[in-house]
Amino acid sequence: AKVRHYKFDVEYIYKTPDCLEHVVMGINGQFPGPTIKAEVGDTLDIALTNKLHTEGTVIHWHGIRQIGTPWADGTAAISQCAINPGETFHYRFIVDRPGTYFYHGHYGMQRAAGFDLWHTSSHEQEVGLSSAPMRWIGEPQSLLINGRGQFNCSLAANFVNTTLPQCNFKGGEECAPKILQVAPKKTYRIRIASTTSLASLNLAISNHTLVVVEADGNYVHPFTVDSIDIYSGETYSVLLHTDQDPSQNYWLSVGIISRKSDTPQALTILNYNTNPASTFPILPPPITPLWDDIERSKEFTKQIISRMGTPQPPKTADRLIYLLNTQSKIGNFIKWAINNVSLTLPTTPYLGAIKYKLNNTFDRNPPPERFPLDFDIFKTPVNPSTITGNGVYTFQLNEVVDVILQNANMLKENTSEVHPWHLHGHDFWVLGYGEGKFEPGVHQKSLNLTRAPLRNTAVIFPYGWTALRFKADNPGVWAFHCHIEPHLHMGMGVIFAEGVHKIRKVPTEALTCGATAKMFLNDTLH
Ligand code: C2O
Ligand code: CU
Repeated sequence: AKVRHYKFDVEYIYKTPDCLEHVVMGINGQFPGPTIKAEVGDTLDIALTNKLHTEGTVIHWHGIRQIGTPWADGTAAISQCAINPGETFHYRFIVDRPGTYFYHGHYGMQRAAGFDLWHTSSHEQEVGLSSAPMRWIGEPQSLLINGRGQFNCSLAANFVNTTLPQCNFKGGEECAPKILQVAPKKTYRIRIASTTSLASLNLAISNHTLVVVEADGNYVHPFTVDSIDIYSGETYSVLLHTDQDPSQNYWLSVGIISRKSDTPQALTILNYNTNPASTFPILPPPITPLWDDIERSKEFTKQIISRMGTPQPPKTADRLIYLLNTQSKIGNFIKWAINNVSLTLPTTPYLGAIKYKLNNTFDRNPPPERFPLDFDIFKTPVNPSTITGNGVYTFQLNEVVDVILQNANMLKENTSEVHPWHLHGHDFWVLGYGEGKFEPGVHQKSLNLTRAPLRNTAVIFPYGWTALRFKADNPGVWAFHCHIEPHLHMGMGVIFAEGVHKIRKVPTEALTCGATAKMFLNDTLH
């Protein structure tokens, strides 16, 4: 095993990712940031310097469980203090298993400062969401594949119904698609991550099928599909057999599902190296499935089961927590709430506050573990008691926890949205999905305890529930939240903690803010 050293300078830079110039958040001048390749057992040592000048930053290594290094999880106000402008923080952690992962900012709405592309800044979005009346961020202007998209032209103007002119690249443009070059009669592994702020995606390659083999760093029972759904926070590996006519090129398309959106598909070209890369495909791009064909999405998702031999969930759980997802109003502010509590993060990171028993830095009362039995998930919620809060669900170390994520109607009548929930610090087994309200007596028996896939992100479908099981075996404080950035910002998350007393020493550089900073100062003064 090796120690791999990286130096990451985070700064705002000008880029032209969708053919219009924007300020985006980049690393070492690159957007998207550098790819990290490591082997199992390697230690990554990343010195992150904040060169943003006017705001803090952190980076979360999404899908890495940070076993034994909870302070390196990169969540501001949870696992560490935001890194001040000019300062450097060292992320040092072990890559303990193979898989496909990605990294992103986890402070304020910084994740929106670069992935699917809005032409408004993440700051403007943040202010809009926190205002009364709320100003919703709308749909993204562009989708990017490997950091590239086209806003003012279409690669496939001749094929699709668009008013945009045909793109005409001379070469060297920052928004020209990254071509996927392949040789005929081979099998390729494509690693896919959805880093979107809002959108749920469907990816397809014309004339080719895809074999799904990995999800969120775990092998799954291989299955073949024409297209793959990817929700924000999910990663996949698919196998592509280049078994089609090698005298042609083909489109790879990524389009939006689960929300009504007129953002055009992102496109790039699968180029058989028997042809010039500049040859346009003769066939039209794949058609993205209808956004509201939720049945199709459910069918896709239910095909994901674990590969034979993958660890299976404990047969029973020690604890059962229901998390009801509702949209509500607090005064004139629109919020998302879980069991009627809308998450707002404290000033002192939980990890330090719990470890050093600094009372009064967050709500000492744990949030509710269920919601009223008579709650009608099909109606616009009447939530007179929604509050903001920052309490913590605390587990015994190694406790087996079941979480039932329960979806409901939002403030708008007859609407319920998809939410991809992501857990830090663990994988969970996805025990099942169902319609309507989860009824323990009826649904518990139907859960999949033999081929449940291990994941770190799982969706709840409109008006449905999703049942998860995990073992609280990783000492630390962990966020569990909807991976839609504006939803998290509006309170759609909870905090889990376990075994914090077992953590030997949290590096002080992680805790130089809030009440922990004061504590260190007092220690040196006395
Ligand atoms: Cu990629 Cu807390 O998320
Ligand atoms: Cu959400």
